[in-house]
Amino acid sequence: MAIDYNSKIPNNVNLSDDKQLQRALEKWQPAFLDWWKEMGPEGYQQKDVYLRTATSVDAKGWATYGMTKMPDYRWGIFLADQVPDRKIGFGDHMGEAAWQQVPGEFRADLRRLIVTQGDTEPASVEQQRLLGQTCPSLYDLRNLFQVNVEEGRHLWAMVYLLHAYFGRDGREEAEELLERHSGDRNKPRILSTFNEPIDDWMSFFCFTYFTDRDGKYQLKMLAESGFDPLSRTCRFMLTEEAHHMFVGETGLGRVIKRALEVMAEIKSGDPAAVRRAGAIDLPLVQKYINFWFSSAQDLFGSDTSTNAANYFANGLKGRPDEDNYEDHVVKDATYEIEDVQADGSIKTVSIPLRNAMNVIARRAYVKDCDIGVQRWNRVIKKAGVDFEITLPSERFRRTVGVYAGHTFTPEGKFVSAAEWEAKKYSSIPSPEDRAYVKSLMHQVIEPGKMAGWIAPPDRGINNLAVDYQYVRL
Ligand SMILES: [Fe+2]
Ligand SMILES: [Fe+2]
Repeated sequence: MAIDYNSKIPNNVNLSDDKQLQRALEKWQPAFLDWWKEMGPEGYQQKDVYLRTATSVDAKGWATYGMTKMPDYRWGIFLADQVPDRKIGFGDHMGEAAWQQVPGEFRADLRRLIVTQGDTEPASVEQQRLLGQTCPSLYDLRNLFQVNVEEGRHLWAMVYLLHAYFGRDGREEAEELLERHSGDRNKPRILSTFNEPIDDWMSFFCFTYFTDRDGKYQLKMLAESGFDPLSRTCRFMLTEEAHHMFVGETGLGRVIKRALEVMAEIKSGDPAAVRRAGAIDLPLVQKYINFWFSSAQDLFGSDTSTNAANYFANGLKGRPDEDNYEDHVVKDATYEIEDVQADGSIKTVSIPLRNAMNVIARRAYVKDCDIGVQRWNRVIKKAGVDFEITLPSERFRRTVGVYAGHTFTPEGKFVSAAEWEAKKYSSIPSPEDRAYVKSLMHQVIEPGKMAGWIAPPDRGINNLAVDYQYVRL
């Protein structure tokens, strides 16, 4: 599988053998570049950025690092290697050969899954387009741009599937992926979270930790798909996605570390004193986590879902890490979920397991979120500070599923709507909290320097020094 780097579109899908597909993608490419220049990172298009570019799919050497201007980034199409004789691993078609073409009866569902996933990729670039202007360091600026160009490549990955396997309506969907825009009143992005601007770096780190991790779980489920090209595409996307969550985990970790340093310097844990010293106090970090964790939970969809059951039954979308389960058909199995009664009390109900796929995926996601939380807590404990970061209850602040329309505390206790209104800013950022965070957002661009609210990273990118000039301004 040689990658032709001389061609317009780097790929390992033998694009040069398929002239029709090549023409479709080459026609889409200028529209993509126009979109990138207009909606991508504002103000840095002509700057050299130290970027990693996907150049192959093998585990050891898939990435090449170098200085690149973002519009010259080699967006390409990379699918993980084909597993010989791959079989469908779950659902009613379990054991049948994986599909190399789209089965007619699942065409509409597969197209919808691909379009919904594809829509989130450019949406996040649009949401983050102004962040560069307030970067806390050149290292962070580079990481932001790395995430952005890779989300751009993920859009390419989905557009490839639409062009290669869905004919004319696939091409139309691909065009629309560039026509909807985050926050656009007339043509918004499909999922509501992706229409909110991300205009401070706390939100960016929370987004990459929590929202990108939802992306990871969606990709994990699609990587199980019986539609083999989708599976292979998502498997490779997951290798890039890992860096995005690294940015989130280390970003929040560095904010916490800085708060701890300041607390030691001023010999006080008083949040107001920490703020006076220019850091982000731990209770405020917790509020941001509460906010972003709860909105990411909604991305998994309703607790009971016949769509999700059908996707599973039909072999389109499996559970994350399907291999870890014993029963891959789960035809008669049941699963316990919670149901909220009118008085706010919780009843446990048993539903067909296939209908609970969203909850199952969501709970796997929560466990994954908790790994970083425990790491942060070890750092806090080591500093001798009595504070523990926690993930809020799955009931907290939900707008989708059984908890929607009810109000719960982060601990999962039911409260009246009036009580929630009165106390909500003890658990999510208040307008004043947000204004404080905004007040810290000033650009720092001297190599190796960090804004006062964040500690330097432990190491630089690709073994380079932290004070390397990651973006040439
Ligand atoms: Fe992505
Ligand atoms: Fe991502």
